[in-house]
Amino acid sequence: MGNVLIEARALTKKYGKNTALRGIDLEIAGGEIFGLFGPNGAGKSTFISILATLLKPTSGDILVNGISVSEQPDRIKPEIGFVPQDIALYPMLSGRDNLDFWAGIYGLRGKQKKERIEEAVAVARLEDRIGERVSQYSGGMKRRLNIAVSLLHHPRILVMDEPTAGVDIQSRRYIMDTLIGLREEGRTIVFTSHYIDELETLCDKIAVMNMGIIPAVGSPAQLKQLCGVNNLESMLFKLTGDGKA
Ligand SMILES: Nc1ncnc2c1ncn2[C@@H]1O[C@H](COP(=O)(O)OP(=O)(O)OP(=O)(O)O)[C@@H](O)[C@H]1O
Ligand SMILES: [Mg+2]
Repeated sequence: MGNVLIEARALTKKYGKNTALRGIDLEIAGGEIFGLFGPNGAGKSTFISILATLLKPTSGDILVNGISVSEQPDRIKPEIGFVPQDIALYPMLSGRDNLDFWAGIYGLRGKQKKERIEEAVAVARLEDRIGERVSQYSGGMKRRLNIAVSLLHHPRILVMDEPTAGVDIQSRRYIMDTLIGLREEGRTIVFTSHYIDELETLCDKIAVMNMGIIPAVGSPAQLKQLCGVNNLESMLFKLTGDGKA
């Protein structure tokens, strides 16, 4: 694997009296598919939102290529494509108009913008439906369009919060293949999932997160060995308990 691209240092986030992240240290290498796993409320979305420059840490920092996400977010933003846990599309606009809007936000113009939009339509596999309002799409179609939006500006780092939540098995397989394709292109992917099979299949490394800390990180094989179990599910139960916050 490549050099460290993303580095969290003593990363802490408090929301009033809720502490979501408790001094996390984490290294993610360039070109990896890196998974974040943990029960509801573990702090995954908080971590991902800080990495995507949408949320400021309370203390500590994340460095991307040595650049601080909290101090220089404008230098990090062009490098990152973000897929939020909740769909971020305009329901009253067509799929195509959503792509057009986001392409404009990413600063794409003219011929390049047109090409990237066509590429995104294909990534979303929505060729037949792209003229319809997003409010008429199914959940999985919205999810696929949201992923396509995150790729419009060809970012080096994809940050995806539950990209496969609530999609059918065909779309899930398609999204997983998309992530593998992106890694083959040399991009780095950080994503969260509640699906163990998917994490085991896709991830070079997994960080197990629980109550704002990371009790273990490693390849699926390393994690199983660490806990002396032969399947990832037992390992995750061991590390994250019954999941009560
Ligand atoms: N805006 C907020 N205000 C107050 N507390 C918050 C806020 N956002 C998150 N939290 C708290 O921070 C903790 C971590 O939440 P986070 O959304 O990061 O968890 P998660 O691991 O993504 O969970 P899930 O699997 O349910 O998506 C939780 O205790 C949550 O209640
Ligand atoms: Mg979340």
